Amino acid sequence: MILEAKNLVKWFGTEENKTYAVKDVSFSVNYGEMLYIVGPSGSGKTTLLSIISGILRPNAGVVFVKDKELWKLNDNEMADFRLFSIGFVFQDFHLFPRLTSVENVAIPLILQKKSWEESIAAGYKYLEIVGLKDRADLPPHKLSIGEQQRVAIARAIISEPDLLIFDEPTASLDGDTGKKIISFVRDNILSAKKAIIIVTHDNRIYNYATRILRMEDGKIMASNKGEF
Ligand SMILES: Nc1ncnc2c1ncn2[C@@H]1O[C@H](COP(=O)(O)OP(=O)(O)OP(=O)(O)O)[C@@H](O)[C@H]1O
Ligand SMILES: [Mg+2]
Repeated sequence: MILEAKNLVKWFGTEENKTYAVKDVSFSVNYGEMLYIVGPSGSGKTTLLSIISGILRPNAGVVFVKDKELWKLNDNEMADFRLFSIGFVFQDFHLFPRLTSVENVAIPLILQKKSWEESIAAGYKYLEIVGLKDRADLPPHKLSIGEQQRVAIARAIISEPDLLIFDEPTASLDGDTGKKIISFVRDNILSAKKAIIIVTHDNRIYNYATRILRMEDGKIMASNKGEF
């Protein structure tokens, strides 16, 4: 098992007036899996992803990633976890506005202390994979939303992390581009030593999943290989 989440709870608001976003969620992800999480808007999907990727501390519950308890890591260990072990595509991309596309893509390698030349060369390679080599030297605001999304995907996969976490990675892409990228990720990035978790509303890519979890009102309602 690469990831195990047990009894996760997250609420927002004040002690007197809590709004529960995640209500006692437990699930696990095996090596080699491409797990989808689907469910209506507001059901807690992004909150859950943030908890399992070390971004948002839960109010209760535990997360194990590769047998280490995530929320017991100290600051340095957590920084290393985010840098080396996971790749995250945020729903709103989080690109750096003053950097070019290729620099945005290369950031994880630069932070990992690889040389600038090596990092930028890899950046071009991964931009080519997502079909954006000709946009490499432009900043994000010169790109369409779909192109920005592809830059975010290239940045998440460039260091080939053990655990890829995608929040709506194809929402702004046309069907063919979305399928191409997801099938590339499955065939070339996923391996027996890695796993991918994808939150999506995009039923055009459902058949790439090895398993689908359905979330509703902060809870996981069903787990299925089939249709939702
Ligand atoms: N920072 C926050 N402060 C207060 N409430 C929040 C916060 N983040 C999320 N929530 C609330 O938690 C619930 C779950 O939100 P979340 O973003 O996880 O849903 P989601 O399933 O990702 O929705 P979508 O499909 O629209 O992205 C919602 O009711 C939301 O309003
Ligand atoms: Mg969301």
